[in-house]
Amino acid sequence: MYAMLFESVSKRFVMGHDRARSFQDLMLRTLRPGSHTPREILWALKDVSFMIERGEAVAIVGRNGSGKSTCLKLMTRILTPTQGSVDIQGRVAGLLELGAGFHPELTGRENIYLNGALMGLSRREIAHRFDEIVAFAELERFVDAQVKFYSSGMTMRLGFSIAICVNPDILLIDEVLAVGDQSFQEKCLERIEQVRANGVTIIFVSHALETVRALCERVIWLDQGQLREDGACDVVVDDYVAAVHAHEEVAVE
Ligand SMILES: Nc1ncnc2c1ncn2[C@@H]1O[C@H](COP(=O)(O)OP(=O)(O)OP(=O)(O)O)[C@@H](O)[C@H]1O
Ligand SMILES: [Mg+2]
Repeated sequence: MYAMLFESVSKRFVMGHDRARSFQDLMLRTLRPGSHTPREILWALKDVSFMIERGEAVAIVGRNGSGKSTCLKLMTRILTPTQGSVDIQGRVAGLLELGAGFHPELTGRENIYLNGALMGLSRREIAHRFDEIVAFAELERFVDAQVKFYSSGMTMRLGFSIAICVNPDILLIDEVLAVGDQSFQEKCLERIEQVRANGVTIIFVSHALETVRALCERVIWLDQGQLREDGACDVVVDDYVAAVHAHEEVAVE
């Protein structure tokens, strides 16, 4: 049984919303007719298909803007595909952009309950895991402070800790680990290895290719929204690195 199935998935965004954001904006538009920003259509993903088996550890790599985060957002159902279909089997938890899913005005404690509830846990289940979440994040001193006062690393710690402690079937990690300090990063990687050994499906987006090699057996390479290569980690990472270097040489010439 698969964990994740993408069938000919395309995602379209419309950029440059032609909407006045302020009174000044509105005045400017009246004074300068025709100066409106044109709407630009952007296909963040184009006809992407893959299947991820249960228990696989898969990395998604690609240049900035190639559609990796869009892919993960489709996996959490934050976004829906414009075309094609996304099928997910199991509970997904993850760490997407920094602070996504947190309410800055609420305390760490309140955010843990909010996030747990959003992931479908009852109050009792969250209470049961609460101490573990705080201890893993090492945020005992700050648990009753508002999240807006957290540093980037602290926000990431809390997000990772919640994601890992709700026992997901599928764990999504988008880059943000990089803001953790060395010791917390190592702790996270160790924990990811552990949940992986327990059969959790891992989908890992990162530019840290050494970590990708250490953690994942399979790599999906996205290039301008298209699936460029999907296969064994070493093969795809080598091809990706070679392509990046080839591109740099062309750019220098
Ligand atoms: N909400 C949105 N509205 C408009 N365009 C968007 C939106 N989200 C993403 N995009 C566009 O979709 C494309 C893919 O973005 P995405 O965030 O998936 O890239 P990425 O591969 O995660 O890049 P990075 O390595 O920089 O994190 C980009 O061109 C981006 O500008
Ligand atoms: Mg991204």
